[in-house]
Amino acid sequence: MIKTRKQLIQAYLKFFQGKGHKQVQNAPLIPEHDPTVLFTTAGMHPLVPYILGERHPQGKRLVSLQRCIRTGDIDEVGDDLHLTFFEMLGNWSLGDYWKEEAIKFSYEFLTSKKWLGLDPKKISVTVFGGDGEIPRDLDSAEVWKQVGIPSERIFFLGKEHNFWGPAGKTGPCGPCSEMFYDTGRAKCSRKCNPSCSCGKYFEIWNDVFMEYNKLADGKYEKLKQRNVDTGMGVERTVAMLQNKANVFEIEVFSPIEKRIEELANIGGETKERMKSIRIIADHLKAACFILAERVAPSNLDRGYVLRRLIRKAIRHGRLLRMQKFTKEIAEEILKIYRRAYPQIKEHGSFILSEMEKEEIKFLATLEKGLKRFEDIIKEIKTKEISGKDAFDLYQSYGFPIEMTQELAQERKLKIDAKGFEEEFKKHQEMSRQATEKRFKGGLADFSEKATKLHTATHLLHQALRNVLGTEVRQHGSNITPERLRFDFNFTRKVTEEEIKKVQDEVNKNIKAALPVKKEEMSFPEARKQGALAFFGERYGEKVSVYSIGGYSKEVCGGPHVKNTKELGHFRIVKEEGVAAGVRRIKAVLE
Ligand code: ALA
Repeated sequence: MIKTRKQLIQAYLKFFQGKGHKQVQNAPLIPEHDPTVLFTTAGMHPLVPYILGERHPQGKRLVSLQRCIRTGDIDEVGDDLHLTFFEMLGNWSLGDYWKEEAIKFSYEFLTSKKWLGLDPKKISVTVFGGDGEIPRDLDSAEVWKQVGIPSERIFFLGKEHNFWGPAGKTGPCGPCSEMFYDTGRAKCSRKCNPSCSCGKYFEIWNDVFMEYNKLADGKYEKLKQRNVDTGMGVERTVAMLQNKANVFEIEVFSPIEKRIEELANIGGETKERMKSIRIIADHLKAACFILAERVAPSNLDRGYVLRRLIRKAIRHGRLLRMQKFTKEIAEEILKIYRRAYPQIKEHGSFILSEMEKEEIKFLATLEKGLKRFEDIIKEIKTKEISGKDAFDLYQSYGFPIEMTQELAQERKLKIDAKGFEEEFKKHQEMSRQATEKRFKGGLADFSEKATKLHTATHLLHQALRNVLGTEVRQHGSNITPERLRFDFNFTRKVTEEEIKKVQDEVNKNIKAALPVKKEEMSFPEARKQGALAFFGERYGEKVSVYSIGGYSKEVCGGPHVKNTKELGHFRIVKEEGVAAGVRRIKAVLE
């Protein structure tokens, strides 16, 4: 019987390996191949280049377990199903099998006694109902009928339910077909269907038929190849297999909840209290996994999401009259995942110390901030908190705007979000000007040297891929006037001989006096042309693509020199490991 997280994962991987799929690694939460999103939100992110048509070294049939963060549902956390951190199982066809096989695989895994053995009578499915642009998916419905799902359990739904992606503004997407398990509850109304959240239908799996690419202008173009992308939420499926009504009762949550209850200083079960416990468990778990990527709390992008998660957990801890507690809870979380995730084990002390630092920082202003909040709402005449007050809570007391929003909601008040944004921009403008001032005068030399090092970084990146293999991917880069620093994914030490080869190749290309050309295009177009694009940046409608001769092509904000002959001599001064599977090279131009 398949019941636990571990058993489900093993069975899923084995089933698809038996159907010719190769297992791909559980990729970092910070997408390396998809700069349109902050975090990996699904198993497909690491595969975006291959969905767009690049050849995957492991073939056309892939399977994986992927850790994911979704912040879109953050306000739902506390109900029975929603999580910000979760694990997803998925199988892919990259231009190989299509709807019929995908659906038949799903059905077999769900219902065969050898696998999950679910009662077919309890399975309902949805398919895309079509809109003006993209046709109704009659093919998928037909296959579902063929395997034995009767028409009354096949529901045609619209784009908001049955069209998946793109995860960011642009990228691969397509109609999908979702599978639901009937919990046995009565229908909430005659119209009740799987899109309803009354609890009758428990969503477990999604088969996406990715044949479109959404462009920056909102149009859909057909992809080079038809792909299948599926996702099965591990926590939900395990809860279903264990007959639990919510995901918090399974083994990857119950020890965390137990620990929270031990530390809480308030008795009695209330709905609010249960919600706070769930929020703390989920948010701190997500925080541990973000920290395991060596991201620290900050006011920017990923660091801000991390800060928000930790601070929200702390505020809910306060509702349970907990004192300092995040480290204790994080320890419990690390225990659950340290075997399955080497990075959780390896960065354990970083996770705990950053968590504690953030808590101490926030606790220093939390009480005062809450008092200030009370004063604000006493003073206001309308039902709205002004942007200025919300900004003051952010600036002076470290309250993420979302937290102020939550506090306001609890009092049935609103926030002038636009006013907050204006205050925020005003403030940013001030600091931007200050930064510019600081850099004026005496720093011209800096930009010239940095420009050269930027171009050298592109040459280095390509040379590493040529010498070590195309699995080399940029992980990060940092440039000072003195040197460049380049981090990349690679699992062993680079030998001296290889270092020399890389260095020689870069110098050869400098001598070859290759022209550096800049072009503007949409991100999907850049990917289509094979431009490398990595790490963290979020791109706008148009991106700049720098080509160096016919040698290298990368999406990059620049600046770069006009010709490689300007660079001088390139020398690698150091090669070292910085984390599991990540190497660092420092190099100079002389
Ligand atoms: N990418 C699809 C999802 O996340 C499978 O549901």
